[in-house]
Amino acid sequence: MNKQDSVRWTKEDICSHLGDEYDRYLGAIVPPIFQNSLFTRKTTDHGYVYTRVSNPTTEVAERKIAALEEGEAAKCFSSGMGAISAAIMYWMSHGSHVVCVRSAYGPTREFLGSYLKPFGVETTFVRSGSTSDIEEALRPNTKLIFLESPSSHLFEMQDLRAVAELARAKGIATVIDNTWATPLYQNPLVYGIDMVVHSASKYLGGHSDIIGGVIVGKAADMEKIMHRERALFGSNMDPHQSWLLTRGIRTLPVRMRQHQESALQIALFLEQHPLVERVIYPGLTSHPQYELGASQMTGYSGLFSFVPRGSDQAIHDMIGKLRFFEFGPSWGGFESLVNAPGLGISDEVSRATGIPHGLIRLSIGLEQPQTIMEDLDQALQTLK
Ligand SMILES: Cc1ncc(COP(=O)(O)O)c(C=O)c1O
Repeated sequence: MNKQDSVRWTKEDICSHLGDEYDRYLGAIVPPIFQNSLFTRKTTDHGYVYTRVSNPTTEVAERKIAALEEGEAAKCFSSGMGAISAAIMYWMSHGSHVVCVRSAYGPTREFLGSYLKPFGVETTFVRSGSTSDIEEALRPNTKLIFLESPSSHLFEMQDLRAVAELARAKGIATVIDNTWATPLYQNPLVYGIDMVVHSASKYLGGHSDIIGGVIVGKAADMEKIMHRERALFGSNMDPHQSWLLTRGIRTLPVRMRQHQESALQIALFLEQHPLVERVIYPGLTSHPQYELGASQMTGYSGLFSFVPRGSDQAIHDMIGKLRFFEFGPSWGGFESLVNAPGLGISDEVSRATGIPHGLIRLSIGLEQPQTIMEDLDQALQTLK
């Protein structure tokens, strides 16, 4: 595709064609994989040296994701946690303080709350939906506010414009895990957030066949992260993984449209089901932060939670009756998945995490929504 610079690329165009460069790759309709460790520089200075630092195949995915997020640059990592830990470390020094939302992904909380402690970094965890709680937790040595909006179990959201404004005024950096909304449906950099991280193992990859991560932000920050955190920890994305990620991104808009349409239909079905107590999905008007979500997102993905009416044991047995859902903690792929974060937890854990007893999480895949609803209904009937 040879679009003129003056033509505005849509998100669909970016996903399909940005980075094609037919002239550079002998007209190959798909850019080839540079599956090499070293780039020799005897005859030309092309700017590449070693794949741990940079690689042209990885850069195709990075250009697409940066453009989708409306950011200046992106860097891909070997996993979402590789990206998250690098983005956090980038802002840290000994004695730093971090404010993190309570509903952030578990290993993110562990990295901040346990792993970094012996290195002199302290973290305060705050309620996820309240800007004033974030403000009250700030200290003179706060260097970073870490957000995840919506979060991936309770779908709690932060007011991104308000938090960005608060942080900017005090010279504090902001990083957000934007995995749930994807760069199609939420662009936090536009609201003044400093860095966006994604687990590319979810919707960006989309086929449950890669583990990957990405950070998007200012070109100068990304250049430093590439040479420091990524190259020194050795957490670069492998070229083959990058090529699969680019392949996944090409179909992101059509997949997300279907995930969204099916999830909304199924969430509404469950909300009206007599054997369901509560559904938590940012796309439902019953979500307590629906208005906030609608003011900062342009769409919804396919992951949500619900609480069936029944004991832990009855809900456990009900899950066993599902035919279409595989059981597992990941999400964002073509396949429907069920997970049970609210089963078998103590009252203390329930209070600390906010996860209600009996909470079940569904990742709605690309199967026919009618089939999924019939499957859920036959399993729910066992709770009677
Ligand atoms: C919200 C969220 N962020 C980050 C991650 C970490 O991504 P990865 O598994 O690619 O390291 C996950 C993984 O489940 C996640 O759910």
